[in-house]
Amino acid sequence: MTAPTAHRSSVGTAHTRVEGRDKVTGAARYAGEIPFAELAHGWLVLSTIACGRIRSVHTAAVLAMPGVLTVLHHENAPRVDSGHVGVLGVPPDPTAVLFQHDRVPHLGWPVALVVAETSEQAREAAEALVVDYEKEPHDIAFPGERPDAHPVDGHVPAVTEKGDLEAELAASAAVVDVEYTTPEEHHNPMEPHAATARWDGGRLDVFDSNQGSTWVADGLVKLFSLDPASVRVRSEHVGGGFGSKGVRAHQVAAVMAATALQRPVRVVMTRRQMFSLAGYRSPTTQRVRLGADADGRLRALEHDCLNLTSTVYDFVEPGAAVARALYDADAHRTANHVVRLDVPTPTWMRAPGEAPGSFALEAALDELAEKAGIDPIELRVRNEPERGPVSGLPFSDHHLPACFREGARRFGWAERDPRPGLRREGRWLLGTGTAAASFPAGAAPSTAAVTAEADGTFTVRIAASDIGTGARTALTLIAADALRTEPERVRVRIGDSDFGPAFLAGGSMGTRTWGWAVMAAAGELRERLVAEAAVPPEGITVRSDTTQAVAALAQKERHAFGAQFAEVAVDVTTGEVRVRRMLGIFAAGRIVNPLTARGQLVGGMTWGISMALHEEAVRDQVTGGHYGADLAGYHVATHADVPHIEADWLDEATDADDPVGIKGIGEIGIVGAAAAIANAVWHATGVRHRQLPIRPDRVL
Ligand code: MOS
Repeated sequence: MTAPTAHRSSVGTAHTRVEGRDKVTGAARYAGEIPFAELAHGWLVLSTIACGRIRSVHTAAVLAMPGVLTVLHHENAPRVDSGHVGVLGVPPDPTAVLFQHDRVPHLGWPVALVVAETSEQAREAAEALVVDYEKEPHDIAFPGERPDAHPVDGHVPAVTEKGDLEAELAASAAVVDVEYTTPEEHHNPMEPHAATARWDGGRLDVFDSNQGSTWVADGLVKLFSLDPASVRVRSEHVGGGFGSKGVRAHQVAAVMAATALQRPVRVVMTRRQMFSLAGYRSPTTQRVRLGADADGRLRALEHDCLNLTSTVYDFVEPGAAVARALYDADAHRTANHVVRLDVPTPTWMRAPGEAPGSFALEAALDELAEKAGIDPIELRVRNEPERGPVSGLPFSDHHLPACFREGARRFGWAERDPRPGLRREGRWLLGTGTAAASFPAGAAPSTAAVTAEADGTFTVRIAASDIGTGARTALTLIAADALRTEPERVRVRIGDSDFGPAFLAGGSMGTRTWGWAVMAAAGELRERLVAEAAVPPEGITVRSDTTQAVAALAQKERHAFGAQFAEVAVDVTTGEVRVRRMLGIFAAGRIVNPLTARGQLVGGMTWGISMALHEEAVRDQVTGGHYGADLAGYHVATHADVPHIEADWLDEATDADDPVGIKGIGEIGIVGAAAAIANAVWHATGVRHRQLPIRPDRVL
């Protein structure tokens, strides 16, 4: 085969999704709709108490109902290994480790699975199942008095500190000492969690909606003590994930039932069940103390974040960590604490830590700018760190000031009068605000295989997951460039654990991580093709494993940065806040597909509107459960709430040490977005809103 010559780069040009047609025509099958012969349906039964024990599960009456095949619960379910550590280095969320004991640690804890011939029969029987409990008092009050708060390391250390905070605060010309709160927020991807499990020729075959087939397969292997070669997890199309789609109750339930019945079993979470089974973002209480010289230079920065977790698992929402990359100060302290309550375990949710943390930090910076009489952008530019404020490492690149410059120009910041409460248009007060965004650009090891087919096309196989981000299309473009061919000649197959280990869609690391593995395999394949005379009928396949390359990457602070701008109108008669426009300018390395990248960034900013103005899950102290655990009771921004949003980026020259040059864009869009809106509300009204969401009743 002759090597193709003149090649026009595909990376950087807009491409519609390669699976877009399948998705809009319904040809793309999601986990809950793939047909199977002999399929049985499981329905989870969740606890109606928030703390206590199961006394008895009255299965007899339910087993006599039409179509019911079995009821699994703590007395008859198989024992599993809950003591293992998964691919992310953490044990499984106990809410997914089904039916192992009689304890109930939160409302919505799975107590049984009813399996029947049809979904309707399973649901009918599940709702009829009587479970007796021994109820104990529960504590769900957050924050309350919390002497039991303790620091927890999550994916980052709990506490960092340097310098004498009190001394620097005392010596500061301008000081801010404020508390911010964010509410409990819930995962609501369009596609609820769903899995079908079956035993097929001695192998466990699972069709699932998840963020990583490797992740889920590994979890099932370890939970059920299976041979890794005997487990296959497929997840071809996923309707959103955002951190919630890992190992969860639905897959475990489906595997238990498929094993018990020896036939395929499907378990789907209802929207309501997701509020206790899918994980969520913990509420936070954050205290920020800033001290600056008269010229705005930070002498002291303290960010303390308290979140809640369950009594059975320590999950931390590291809100205080965002300051570790954004700003330095002579005295710098960040700390993340958790309290254990009788609630479900929270989990990762788009920009875990950075989303609520940036609200507090970037709103506090705005308060400091007001106190010091310095423009909020100028304040941030003056505090651009030379090196990682905590790590001491050099930055690969640090284009936050450039993002602010470009954003300010396009937003019209120069014309802004900094004084609050001055602009009025009928019953509306108008204001503008800004905030910084940053998100780490991490990478993890993955494997990939690229095959040159005899017909001149190429097949990429990688256990990547496209949760709606456009990852499949991005990998097609990356592979095409590495192969010096056209994207039309490349087919990318993803979402299958049989393709070998790959990292999950998370931490904004997916495309960077998978792209690295695809580039490695495709690059080597291209060299092989130059040397080979012809491609044999079975094709030529090259496999890559980036474990060593990722480990060898030079240690630097690698981050995407961004500048968020918002204009709001506040109705003085109703307290309603409407966002009129938003602009986000980002520096996120090489942008692979401008079309889907813009969608990711605008999506994140839209979620920021939702976070600032709408989202809030409220628990009833009496039952320990939610008021309105559905999309009627839990408000998210809808089309009418979302104005014209512009997201764009700088052409960021990439770090010479970095072989990929791609940074993540999945999460940075939400970072700083709520702060920009809150800062704009202050500018409109002269009142600081330190409690999200900024509801009309709080504004009035
Ligand atoms: Mo995201 S919270 O890393 O899925």
